[in-house]
Amino acid sequence: MSRVALVTGGTRGIGAAISTALKKAGRTVVASYAGNVAAAEAFHKEHGIEVIKFDAGNFAECEKAVQDIASRIGPIEILVNNAGITRDAVIGKQSREMWDAVIDTNLGSCFNLCKLTFDGMKAKKFGRIVNIGSINGQAGQYGQVNYAAAKSGIHGFTKALSQEGARYSITVNAIAPGYVDTEMVRAVPPDVLEKIIAKIPRGRLGTAEDIARGVVFLTADDADFVTGSTLSINGGQHMY
Ligand code: CAA
Repeated sequence: MSRVALVTGGTRGIGAAISTALKKAGRTVVASYAGNVAAAEAFHKEHGIEVIKFDAGNFAECEKAVQDIASRIGPIEILVNNAGITRDAVIGKQSREMWDAVIDTNLGSCFNLCKLTFDGMKAKKFGRIVNIGSINGQAGQYGQVNYAAAKSGIHGFTKALSQEGARYSITVNAIAPGYVDTEMVRAVPPDVLEKIIAKIPRGRLGTAEDIARGVVFLTADDADFVTGSTLSINGGQHMY
């Protein structure tokens, strides 16, 4: 039977490309979304991928969703923690709410879903977890103390959990995308974005498919020896 994969934030942007690439790789994919019902319905209609609405930053909602997926579809064996938001502002203009929202959604979600799926993976002696970090968690970014802290946290989280999973053949890896052509990046002021693109040696923004390819590699059944690593996919912008 094909393995069940959950991709958070899996109906738009990088997540949508990950969901469709995993489906193409033969996985049974469930894509979660937090709020954009119209986009999720359109995604489901176009790709025939199951979608489920819950807030990945909320533990109780995650618990309900994981149980629902297990009972209707099967236990999650592949988990891609991709859900992420930005609330950019310099620290003087950043509110405590902006900080909390980004930490909960981007980093808290990794704790919630790893905690809720890990025992099942241990019992099966198989699991593939990929956490989507960011170049800005590696290098920092002006106006992003919240986002950089959350994404940097993901990289530490990944290295720690990989040590717990290794003996059960559960691999835990991170991908650190650079600037990828998505709605999130298109929201960056054009003059700022222009300067960022000028610093990418490859000379272009990444595509969502550039990132999805990395997820397919890291979640393959035979990728058993790759764990605790961070795969940077950023066009050469930051070598870490
Ligand atoms: N380094 C140094 N100084 C900078 C700077 C930088 N990177 N960016 C802006 N500044 C300076 C500006 O030149 C300006 O200086 P002056 O006052 O002397 O003119 C000052 O800081 C204020 O800049 P803004 O006018 O832009 O300030 P603001 O308060 O209106 O906006 C901001 C601040 C929201 C952070 C805005 O600059 C911004 O959106 N920056 C982009 C942040 C970014 O790259 N976010 C990434 C989003 S995509 C993502 O996160 C995905 C991923 O994983 C890669």
